[in-house]
Amino acid sequence: MQFEVLARCQTTRARVCRMTLAHGTTFLPTFMPVATQAAIKGLTPQQTDALGITLILNNTYHLNLRPGIKVLNEAGGAHKFQGWKRNLLTDSGGFQLVSLSEFTKITEEGALFASPFTGEPTMLTPEESIAIQHSIGADIIMQLDDVVSSLTVGPRVEEAMWRSVRWLDRCIAMHEQSGRNASQNLFAIVQGGLDSRLRDLCVDEMVKRKDRVAGYAIGGLSGGEAKDVFWKIVKQCADKLPLDRPRYCMGIGFAEDLLVCVALGVDMADCVFPTRTARFGVALTFNGPVNLRLAKNALDLNIIDDDCPCPTCHSRMSRAHLHHLVTIETVGAHAITQHNIVFQARVMGRARDAIMDGKFPEYLRSFFANYYGNDG
Ligand code: GUN
Ligand code: ZN
Repeated sequence: MQFEVLARCQTTRARVCRMTLAHGTTFLPTFMPVATQAAIKGLTPQQTDALGITLILNNTYHLNLRPGIKVLNEAGGAHKFQGWKRNLLTDSGGFQLVSLSEFTKITEEGALFASPFTGEPTMLTPEESIAIQHSIGADIIMQLDDVVSSLTVGPRVEEAMWRSVRWLDRCIAMHEQSGRNASQNLFAIVQGGLDSRLRDLCVDEMVKRKDRVAGYAIGGLSGGEAKDVFWKIVKQCADKLPLDRPRYCMGIGFAEDLLVCVALGVDMADCVFPTRTARFGVALTFNGPVNLRLAKNALDLNIIDDDCPCPTCHSRMSRAHLHHLVTIETVGAHAITQHNIVFQARVMGRARDAIMDGKFPEYLRSFFANYYGNDG
C-alpha cells in the first residue's frame, strides 16, 4: 500500500490522504458502500463503477458460505468473480458471526457456530479467516476480532479486547507466512467497548505491531451507545493511532456521524444504512433525508436534488415517479440506491475539498445548518 497524507485541517484532526492499492487509488476520507454478497444490493458492479466508487466492502462470512472458496478460487478471486476492477475490502467474519448467529460460541481457538445451511458445528479461526480472505483476494483484509456489543459491560469486554490482540498476532503470522502481504493489506481492529482504559491498552498493544499492519480500524461501536460516548471513544483511539496509517471506523454511515468522525481523524467508514434506507424509499440529501413513500411526494415533479450528478437525478426521475415506483417496482429502490451512494460520496468529497482548501470548519457549519431543520 502507498499511503500519503496530502493535507491536514488546522483546527480539527481531519485530513486528506491518498491510498494506492493493487486496484488503484482511493482518496480519503471515503465512505465504502457495502456489497455483502459480492454486489451492492440492487446494483451491478458496472453501475457501482460508473458512480465513481473506488472502494467497496465484501463480507468474508457470506462469501465463504456462498459461493464458497472453491468457486472463488476457480474464478481467480472475488474481483474477477464479481467483475469489480477497483479496490475491495473484506471484513473478517467475526462481527457477522456474532450479529447473525445466536449459536456462536467464542473460544480461544476461534468462533464456533452452527452452519446456517446444515446446522453442523463450524469453527472460524483467525488463521482460517485470513486464508479465506486470501482466496477472496481483497486489497484490504481485516483481522478476526472478538466483538461484543457496545452495550456489554463487565469482564467480557476486557476478555474480548485481549483476545482480539492475541488473534491479531495469529492473523499477522498467517498473513506474513503466506507471502501475500505485498498485494493484500492487513488491518488491526481496536476493541475495548466503551471503556477508555481498555481502549488505551488495546491501541497501545496494536500500535506496537505497527510495522506488521497496514492500517487500523476502530471496532465495537455503533451498537446503540450514546453519541457523546461514541465520539469520545473515536477521538481517544484516533488521537493515539499512528499518523502514517489509515484509520477506519467500522459500521458508521449517517452523514452527520461521518463528518464528526472525519473531524476526529477518521479516514474510512462503511455502513449498510444508505443502501438499506434506499430500499425503504428514503433518499438522502444535504437538506436531510426525504421519505419518498410519504403521500406528499405523490404530486411532486421535482427531482430529489437539483445539484446531484447521480444517474437518477441526472435523468430527472421525479419524486412523484419514485414515490410511485418505490412500493411496487424494484427499480425504485435501484434508483434511490444509486442516488444515496452518490450522496455519501459527495459528503466525503466535499469534506476532502474543504480540507484541501483550508475550509473544513466552514463546511461543517454549513452542512449542519442545512441538514437539520427540514421536515423531510
Ligand atoms: N463491523 C462493525 N463493527 C465491527 C467490529 O467491531 N468488528 C468487525 N470485524 N466488523 C465490524
Ligand atoms: Zn441524485
